[in-house]
Order: sequence, then C-alpha cells, then structure tokens
Amino acid sequence: MKVLVVGNGGREHTLAWTLLQSFNVDEVFCTPGNGGTATMSNCHNLALAVDDFAGIADAVKANQISLVVVGPEVPLSLGIVDYLRERNIAVFGPTKEGAQIESSKSWAKEIMTQANVPTAKSKTFTNAAAAKDYLRAQGAPIVVKADGLAAGKGVIVATTIEEAIAAVDLLRDNSGKLVIEEFLTGSEVSVLAVTDGKTIRPLSPAQDHKRIGEGDTGKNTGGMGAYSPVPLVTPELMTRIEQEILQPTLDILKQKKIDYCGVLYAGLMITPEGEPKVIEFNCRFGDPETQVVLPLLDTPLDEILLACVEQKLSQLPPIKTKAGSAVCIVAASGGYPDTYEKGKAIAGIAEATNKGAIVFHAGTKLEQEEILTDGGRVLGITAIGDDFEQAIASAYNAVESIQFERMYYRRDIGHKYKN
Ligand code: AMP
Ligand code: GLY
Repeated sequence: MKVLVVGNGGREHTLAWTLLQSFNVDEVFCTPGNGGTATMSNCHNLALAVDDFAGIADAVKANQISLVVVGPEVPLSLGIVDYLRERNIAVFGPTKEGAQIESSKSWAKEIMTQANVPTAKSKTFTNAAAAKDYLRAQGAPIVVKADGLAAGKGVIVATTIEEAIAAVDLLRDNSGKLVIEEFLTGSEVSVLAVTDGKTIRPLSPAQDHKRIGEGDTGKNTGGMGAYSPVPLVTPELMTRIEQEILQPTLDILKQKKIDYCGVLYAGLMITPEGEPKVIEFNCRFGDPETQVVLPLLDTPLDEILLACVEQKLSQLPPIKTKAGSAVCIVAASGGYPDTYEKGKAIAGIAEATNKGAIVFHAGTKLEQEEILTDGGRVLGITAIGDDFEQAIASAYNAVESIQFERMYYRRDIGHKYKN
C-alpha cells in the first residue's frame, strides 16, 4: 500500500517512519515533507503546499496512493478532507465542520457544555468592553484565548488584571471573538485518541514541555520535548478520561451528524485533586507527542488508520503498546520562539542514530546532499528505554552527537514523569 502524509514537521516524519515499519506499507509520499522524509528509504517528497488540494488529489491518483493522512490543523480547518472525500480518496482526518473542535474555541466549548465534559468555566465575548468588564469582575489569574487558530500564540495566561485586559486587544481576531476562561492548576497531559466517528480508542498518554526554558519557564513554544506514557495517568484515570470526556464528546459530534474520523486530541489538566479537565481539543496528532506515542505502538499504524477510515474501529483488536518509556528531546534553532536563522549545516545525525535513537526531522531541508536547518524546531530525538531513567539518558546521549550553529535544547525533558 502507498500512503500520502500531508505536512512537513516532526509529526509528519514520525507518521511516515511509523507507517513504513508496517509490513503492508511499501511506499510513503510526503507533501511537502522535510529533510528527514527526503532521505528515508521508500519515502518521497512532493513539492506541494498543504493547501494545494487540487495538486494533492492529482498526486494521489497519479501515484496510486490508497490513503491520505493529514498532519496539521490548517489544511483540516480549510476542508482538505471534504475536498478529497468528494473525489473518493480515502483520508484520515476530520472534515472542516469537525475540525472546528480546534479552529473555534467557542464552538469547542459549546460541544463540551453539551457533552457535560469537565472543563474550565468560560464565557465567550464579541465585545471588547464587555470582555474587559468581565475580567475586572473575575480578577487574575485568568486565561484569555483567541477564538480561531493562532499557531500556538492565541492563549495568554494572565497573572495580573492589567495583563488580562491588554490580552483582549492583542488576541481579538477577525471574528472579534474571545474566550475568557478560569485558570486551572495541575499537570497537563495529552491524550491522542483515534476515532471512526462511532468508536474512540485512546493511544498511550503523553506529556509535552511547552515552555522554552528549563523548569517550564519563559515563552510558550510549539513543544520542546515529550514523554510517554505518563505514570500519573493510571489505568483507572484513563478509563475515566474515556468515559467522561472522549466518548461523550464523540456522542455529541454524532448527534450533530458530524462524521468525525481522525484524531481527537484532548489537552487535559489533571487537577491536584486528580480530576481530569479539558483545556482544549485538537483535531490532529500532537507535535511532539506523536514522536513518543507512535514509536511505542505495537499495533501497525496503517491498520489503525484504515479501521478509522473504513468505520470499522470497533472490529479492530485492542490497540497494543510496547512495554517501556519513550522520551523525545527537541533540538531548536537559537533564538526560537522569536527570530532565528536558517540554513545551518547539521552534523551527527548518523552518530545519534547509531546510539539507538530515532532522529525525527522537523525544520530541516535537503539541499545538495546536505541536511540544513529550516525552522525553529529542527529535530526531535526520540529514545526508548525499559524505564524513564534509561530513555532520558539514552536520548541525551544521542543529542550530544548532534551539532549545528546555535543549537538549543532543554536539559530537563522527561524529568516530570515522577510527579
Ligand atoms: P491551548 O492553546 O489552549 O493549549 O493553551 C496553551 C497553553 O495555555 C496550555 O497548554 C496551558 O499551559 C495554558 N492554558 C490554557 N488554558 C488554560 C487554563 N484554563 N488554565 C491554565 N492554563 C491554561
Ligand atoms: N504539542 C502541542 C500540540 O501539538 O498542539
């Protein structure tokens, strides 16, 4: 079988790599892909943008591709799935309507209310003055969120009322809509669940490291590392997450006649009392969570994706995960998440791989046989160990082999597993 992966990040390299581990997948195409997908055996990049739906549909037909997997939220929210489905192309991902679970925070909040899912108390505003009055009445800390997609820059956790009020003017998007939300404390966990619209099955839980600095300090980023599973999420807690959050959400989507196929990613806060509450839903695989969740999968990924697309997930045997722990360290360009330079030569990938790590590329490109940096988050170095201590040691040992000018990575990835 041939599969096309849409996107160019670390998540997409991981999807392509995992698919190629499967006996039934002989070729993967990535559009547009990165330096890692360009150099992996049996993988080819196609120079098409993620929103070039017509080009992607043509490439699917020309290369006899059986399945399309969409990585990022932007093409999903623009309706890539609707477009491809209308042309009888099998595609893993929700329709434009379903993708609103991520592309509109107010819509997602309505779904959560209807599904009676535990989440932060919130209110949606279209009027800036009314939003500011509400903030003054509530006090800080408080969270202000842009309604639409904002590439990870749409949320301000305000510690003072002045900051919250300034956030109203900063975050109002074209729709003018804002969501103001109660501040939650606890531990954040990502649960990526796959669904065919009827049945929903969670994959191994993961924890991201969103801040640029050690000890979770400094600016928010796309994610500086991840680990999986999360010891805090016991089997009992996972059952509650399934029964109290994932299934009721899917039931409401079904009730609204939304045929949701793909990943429902629940960004959760586990409160100090041990209660899971939804911070947000995403309509896709997480990045860098995918870099630790998929290497731990024992069930072939293509079987899971096909079961979802063919609406046969209930017939798939339980999804199996390998024993052990996975840790992914992101190597970023110095200066990220602000300005940084691109085009730096990367050395040491083969050495890191020889040490047993999997080097997933994110912001890289292949130019004249050389791998160069091409983004803020450059590589994700994943290692699997019998336990977290082993996985962390092995991932850092591999990272030490990699070099590029102004390379930056956090030294404390994975350490929170004990909490
Ligand atoms: P989001 O884009 O919704 O994931 O928000 C980005 C980050 O902001 C989350 O990962 C949390 O760290 C933080 N955040 C969002 N909502 C809340 C909340 N209600 N309480 C505390 N932190 C939050
Ligand atoms: N790791 C956060 C995200 O994928 O949204």
